[in-house]
Amino acid sequence: METLIPVINRLQEVFLTVGADSIQLPQIVVVGSQSSGKSSVLESLVGRDFLPRGSGIVTRRPLVLQLVHVPPLEERRKHDNGNESKRNSQNSYPGIKAEEWGTFLHCKNQVFLYLELLCIGLLAGIGNDPIYLKIFSPNVLSLTLVDLPGITKVPVGDQPEDIEIQVQEMILSFISNPNSIILSVSPATSDLATSDALKLAREVDPDGRRTLLVVTKLDLMDAGTDALEVLLGRVIPVRLGIIGVVNRSQHDLNTRKSVPDAAKDEQAFLQRHYPSLASRCGSRYLARTLSRLLMHHIRDCLPELKTRVTVLTAQYQARLNSYGQPVEDPSAMLLQIVTKFASDYCNTIEGTARHIQTSELCGGARICY
Ligand code: GDP
Ligand code: NA
Ligand code: MG
Repeated sequence: METLIPVINRLQEVFLTVGADSIQLPQIVVVGSQSSGKSSVLESLVGRDFLPRGSGIVTRRPLVLQLVHVPPLEERRKHDNGNESKRNSQNSYPGIKAEEWGTFLHCKNQVFLYLELLCIGLLAGIGNDPIYLKIFSPNVLSLTLVDLPGITKVPVGDQPEDIEIQVQEMILSFISNPNSIILSVSPATSDLATSDALKLAREVDPDGRRTLLVVTKLDLMDAGTDALEVLLGRVIPVRLGIIGVVNRSQHDLNTRKSVPDAAKDEQAFLQRHYPSLASRCGSRYLARTLSRLLMHHIRDCLPELKTRVTVLTAQYQARLNSYGQPVEDPSAMLLQIVTKFASDYCNTIEGTARHIQTSELCGGARICY
């Protein structure tokens, strides 16, 4: 079932390459106020440190993050050696001698072998255009995630006066996409009823069909209080579920606590404070839930997606025909590749969709009650 997501990711890349924005693909978008823990949540999903994050650090540009699951290096080596003829096959990534690596769409030929270095590329960027970053790792589920700048009220530093409106519009442009799954991040330390993240999500998704609530900072609540009522959905019900997490604190970051250690401590915290909910909370459960939601979402989008691909295929075919004789022009070649890719993968998607519809995945996402 994981095979559908790479297909979608590749489609997205191809359409991006030809400058077509007419295809809207499912992705998971993180929304929340500044310092609510958005980047921390994303990092726990990826399992590595690489995002600019911290109390004083602000993500200014939207970041579109494609996680691609690859086999461990050991396996890829074996595959490369035993299979000389298939060296270029999509799954082997020949020539890359690292367990995990990252690439930016805007500097495609540059492979970052140390994910920590990505942080530099991310911080350097200014402007409003999204940054496209792809991370290949044996330790991730194949997911596309979008990190957005935090909802702000007051301009700081060199931010323009109308920063609140600008950021709000940017967020809305991402989450109003009906193909976005909204990950609404709210800290347990502030009143959920006033959560800007939920308010914005409600605006574009009033029925809550694609909004999931992540409650961060469970560990920072005042002594004698807990988030049980919130997590049970008794304060504000959230159809797709409410998942409590404990990310690394600023102190954890300063003392370089690793993501795996943080995950262990998180589980211990949940077992101690929320024993009845521990199996339905935490970063790992969040990752599994997201993966499942994405599959459902893709399945729901397939008929529409298929229509779009068919229309585009016809358009490209017509344009291709109008070129007459085959030419060496690389852009024409690209069109040819897209056309072939689109028709091939249309069939794959249909096949996979049939498979998913008949599998037990259809049960729908569990609501966290
Ligand atoms: P963002 O601005 O929403 O992306 O938030 P960040 O992920 O950058 O986190 C802001 C600050 O809150 C950082 O110092 C994090 O270490 C801290 N933080 C985030 N989540 C938690 C949490 O669950 N518990 C604790 N104690 N601190 C957290
Ligand atoms: Na921050
Ligand atoms: Mg951030």
